[in-house]
Amino acid sequence: MNILLLGSGGREHAIGWKIAQSAKCDKLFIAPGNAGTEGVGGKGVNVDMKADDFEAIKQFVVDNDVKMVVVGPEDPLVKGVYDDLKNDSRTKDIPVIGPSKAGAVLEGSKDFAKAFMKRHNIPTAAYETFDGTQVEEGCKFLETLSAPYVLKADGLCAGKGVLILDTLEEAKSELKEMLGGMFGNASSRVVIEEFLSGIECSVFVLTDGKNYKILPEAKDYKRIGEHDTGLNTGGMGSVTPVPFATPEWMAKVEERIIKPTVDGLAADGIDYKGFIFFGLINVKGEPMVIEYNCRMGDPETESVMLRLKSDIVDLFEGVAEGNLDTRAIEFDPRSVVCVMMVSGGYPQEYKKGFTITGIEDVEGSIVFHSGTAMKDGNVVTAGGRVIAVSSYGADKEEALAKSFKEARKIQFEGKYFRSDIGADL
Ligand code: AMP
Ligand code: GLY
Repeated sequence: MNILLLGSGGREHAIGWKIAQSAKCDKLFIAPGNAGTEGVGGKGVNVDMKADDFEAIKQFVVDNDVKMVVVGPEDPLVKGVYDDLKNDSRTKDIPVIGPSKAGAVLEGSKDFAKAFMKRHNIPTAAYETFDGTQVEEGCKFLETLSAPYVLKADGLCAGKGVLILDTLEEAKSELKEMLGGMFGNASSRVVIEEFLSGIECSVFVLTDGKNYKILPEAKDYKRIGEHDTGLNTGGMGSVTPVPFATPEWMAKVEERIIKPTVDGLAADGIDYKGFIFFGLINVKGEPMVIEYNCRMGDPETESVMLRLKSDIVDLFEGVAEGNLDTRAIEFDPRSVVCVMMVSGGYPQEYKKGFTITGIEDVEGSIVFHSGTAMKDGNVVTAGGRVIAVSSYGADKEEALAKSFKEARKIQFEGKYFRSDIGADL
């Protein structure tokens, strides 16, 4: 069948790489894609179409005999791409891998996610939500908490909407700024929550709304600087498996978090067929939810996909048909480490358009493009996160050493990567 994958980052290159391995996939269209998705697995064809241009997407599905749409990023999901295709007579029977708009609110609204967890007894930090008319109440609530203080814009802010503040004074002042429009409409409501201390871990589930499969967990590295210093980024690397995610810990995650989430979505009448990303924190051995995302993580996908041995299109068919429980899922026991190479200056201002060389010299690792484009026959930088190098190893150390060795072969002006990925595990 022909499949359309929406998105343009490293996550989409990795999902596309996996989809293209399936005998069930004939042509794989990626909209808009990047320099790496073009030709991926001998099947990839980039399409010059925005991932949230729903009219164009539906017309493309009809014109190109597309039989499945897979959604990579949150944006089209939160805007309702699932519902839009389902509500059009031409595309209503085309499976969409990704939740309905009502399901994507798990990521699109922090307040909704917190209320959902409270309603379904899913462990998470204590919280209250305030709007622009409740600055005083918000400040009073802050006084009941102890430092550090966690403020979250309710809506999508491209990963920038969470502030963690050391003093009550700063927290009150930032709360006023946020409710006053610091992140536009996204911070018209602010969630204030209890600070949790522990190591984070991303757990991924694929669900058909009733049954689910748990994918390999991963840890991502969000800060730009070594030893987790400096500004937050989209993610500087990822490691799977995560040593503290033992079978006992994962059993707690499944019982206390995954099952009640999938059952809770069904009980609330929310149509959810796709990935759920559980951003977890390990608090003294007990898993708690920091956040939900309605899609896979980036750069976690660039390591997790390497550990999925099963046919991902077969799993997607199980999602669409509601019989995911009948599909086999198998994992590679090896470790995988992904190291992200970024543009100099990122996550602040950076230049684009530098030629990237050495990709063809990489041996034994897999290169996923993130922010790249083709220009005059050359692959050039086109984003902050540029290229991920993912490698297998018998253990994390071997995978790391391999990724660093291969990453050194790829060159572009201003290239930077963190050389301590996985060092804390
Ligand atoms: P979020 O966008 O909700 O994932 O938050 C971004 C990051 O802020 C998380 O990955 C955590 O590192 C941190 N964070 C969020 N909420 C809390 C919390 N309640 N306690 C401690 N750290 C948090
Ligand atoms: N790596 C975190 C995210 O994709 O949101």
